[in-house]
Amino acid sequence: RSKRPAGAPDRKLARPVTKIGVVGAGLMAGQFALLFAKALKVPVVITDVDQERVDKGLAYIHGEVDKLRAKGRMSADAANRTKALVTASVSKEAFADADFVIEAVFEELSVKKQVFAEVEAVVSPECILATNTSSLSVTEMAADLRHPERVVGFHFFNPVAVMPLVEIVRAPRTDDAVLATAFALAKELRKTAVLVKDSAAFVVNRVLLRLMGEVSNAFDDGTPAEVADTALRPMGLPMTPFALLAMVGIPVAQHVTESLHAAFGERFRVSANQQALIDHGVRELWVTGEDGVRRIPAATLDLLA
Ligand code: 3HC
Repeated sequence: RSKRPAGAPDRKLARPVTKIGVVGAGLMAGQFALLFAKALKVPVVITDVDQERVDKGLAYIHGEVDKLRAKGRMSADAANRTKALVTASVSKEAFADADFVIEAVFEELSVKKQVFAEVEAVVSPECILATNTSSLSVTEMAADLRHPERVVGFHFFNPVAVMPLVEIVRAPRTDDAVLATAFALAKELRKTAVLVKDSAAFVVNRVLLRLMGEVSNAFDDGTPAEVADTALRPMGLPMTPFALLAMVGIPVAQHVTESLHAAFGERFRVSANQQALIDHGVRELWVTGEDGVRRIPAATLDLLA
């Protein structure tokens, strides 16, 4: 028998999860909708604000299933079953019979609170509301709900299919049964779950952003990004800090840094160069040339000059 993770309540309290809702049909949401359908084999419904986004989300999931099938990682039967389990809707009414709804919408507290209020209006009083927030307060997200005890943080890492960890965040009012269900779900997804405090950026992003932040500060101080990236390549990291920044997305990294700055002050400084990239709508840090070498595009460098 495996040991209960530190701080996890008795697993006997866990409730069955027979249908899952995912709010948002973006990349992160699509990745966990696929994981839920594949690993739990329960119906999963994704929603977004318009049909185009919902269609795109569904197409992404089907594309990922096809890739797994082509690699020989999924039988034809399993691929068809997984695709059939995921449905999409532009209405949150589709969550009416879900027992676990997770949001992966824009990283802004007011947006997440609004989403939770809308979901609470259609689901049963027992339905768990989980957030994949990277850095925002789970306590505040739950504060105005009729049932704040149903809210829990369930924070995945990118790429969701591969990264083995889920941070489970307990807010002061989170119910033991809700927490136990979150741990049981993580176990069924074959993820390692850790219980973390509801503090800015929890544990992993707090540590990661320290590293990425220092590299960004070196960048601000005049070290070219390529130099920092090359220098850190042999340090045993699975990805260099700039490659990680590009994968996580500059705006997401910036949101996390802002939360950390608000909580811890100058220990987490928002990089002037990263801010300039955001101000100019730059989302990609690298281009890979014909010689296979990644370089920052000249137009981006001009912005930073
Ligand atoms: N989706 C699905 N599978 C993926 C994938 C993706 N986006 N990216 C890689 N994989 C799979 C590959 O298919 C491959 O599987 P296979 O061996 O079965 O074919 C496996 O992962 C390994 O991939 P590669 O051989 O291509 O590459 P690497 O060995 O370099 O591993 C990596 C890629 C797993 C992404 C590795 O570089 C890594 O661990 N990087 C660090 C990632 C990290 O730190 N993530 C956390 C970011 S912070 C975050 O997400 C929190 C948020 O709140 C900001």
